[in-house]
Amino acid sequence: MKDRSLGERDAAHFVHGYTDLSENREKGPVVITRGDGVRVFDEDGKGYLEAASGMWCTTLGFGEQELVEAAIRQMRKLPYYHTLAGRSVTPAIELAEKLASLVPIPDARIFFAVSGSEANDFLIKFLWYYNNAIGRPKKKKVIARKNGFHGATIAATSLTGLTKNHAGFDLPLPGFLHTDDPNYYHGAKAGESPEEYATRLADSLEQMILEEGPDTVMAFMAEPVTGGGGVVIPPPTYYEKIQAVLRKYDVLFLADEVITGLGRTGNYFGCETFGIQPDAMTIAKGLSSAYQPISAIVLSKEIYEGLVAGSDAAGGYFAHGATYAGHPVAAAVALRALELIEERDLISHVKRVGAHFKERLEALKEHPLVGEIRCVGLMAAVELVADKESHRMFDPPGLVAKRLKQRTEELGVITRVVPCGDSIAFAPPLIITEEEIDEIFDRFEEALAMEQ
Ligand SMILES: Cc1ncc(COP(=O)(O)O)c(C=O)c1O
Repeated sequence: MKDRSLGERDAAHFVHGYTDLSENREKGPVVITRGDGVRVFDEDGKGYLEAASGMWCTTLGFGEQELVEAAIRQMRKLPYYHTLAGRSVTPAIELAEKLASLVPIPDARIFFAVSGSEANDFLIKFLWYYNNAIGRPKKKKVIARKNGFHGATIAATSLTGLTKNHAGFDLPLPGFLHTDDPNYYHGAKAGESPEEYATRLADSLEQMILEEGPDTVMAFMAEPVTGGGGVVIPPPTYYEKIQAVLRKYDVLFLADEVITGLGRTGNYFGCETFGIQPDAMTIAKGLSSAYQPISAIVLSKEIYEGLVAGSDAAGGYFAHGATYAGHPVAAAVALRALELIEERDLISHVKRVGAHFKERLEALKEHPLVGEIRCVGLMAAVELVADKESHRMFDPPGLVAKRLKQRTEELGVITRVVPCGDSIAFAPPLIITEEEIDEIFDRFEEALAMEQ
């Protein structure tokens, strides 16, 4: 146990997620007490450059006073009211309007929730309801991808394609399937081009739909770029081919933009970066720069009309809602966050500093252990391998990445280990400067040099 009272008190009563519970009980966690710009500070005053934006989410950094002021203003005016049973609140109306103007879904309709998991859960529930309402009661299965991450609620864990997240929890639920992870570096056959690989994956998806029966498959869900599963960037033509298959069998494309939404990939949405025309999307994290827990489910007008039909058929009652859906303080903060992205032209900033970010990453390729660099916008992973020639992973995977992350952290930079062999992910706040990017990679190179 660390000789630190906060850590001890934490270990006594606080249960943490995605944590070695025994280790946490022994050692206690690192307690972060303060943040400013791209930096956070622990209880001992040690500062870190947060190159993972907390949990991929504080896009505007840790000290944005405009967001604090937006929360205070709304707290003073109306700290809470619900948006159920014929009531609404001004910030949520304005936020829905604003989001509808930004998303790549024409005439979109928005439902608010509090987390990415809840958004994904609600979305699946809405689509089951929609298919019942429009007379397709058999069309209910969802295909997500191996190594995708979609959250922690029961449906969101079922959508998730990480077997570790299923083990011991009796998940996934029936009706949730997982197709290939579009990881060309590890998945391609010898001599297979990226385009041939993309064709093979689209064929494999088509095969799965045919085996299940197209009249039973409702939707396909994907993160445009896998985040927690490894920052995997699909090869060229992948989404084009996948979307052609989905259209052929009338299967909806659901884009989980929880990480990729609102600037991370250098456009407002990952769907724009990768040429995806989604039927529905989920957004969270960067929606409020994580200053408030809020997420959004974006629906096409067609899906929304199905919900209306279902409500009509139920005697005028859409039997779904949540106490905090459209919470006025969270909505006010999110609205201000979206305004700041616009006012500061943050999307252009991401494109600009993203070029430097990529340059620093590409320079790491020379290191004897660096197998692959994956990068888009301000989102990247460096994968270390046991053998560069054959792309062989370390056995067991993860230990080298864990050590490297630890060393980098000792040098004052927080990164994230992601479960694609030994991969270290970077997703700094979108406000980061080129000098701060240099600081990340100077420290990371120092830590990596110890791995020769
Ligand atoms: C792509 C993606 N979807 C969904 C979620 C779940 O979001 P939350 O943790 O807010 O429930 C996450 C969380 O990391 C995520 O990365």
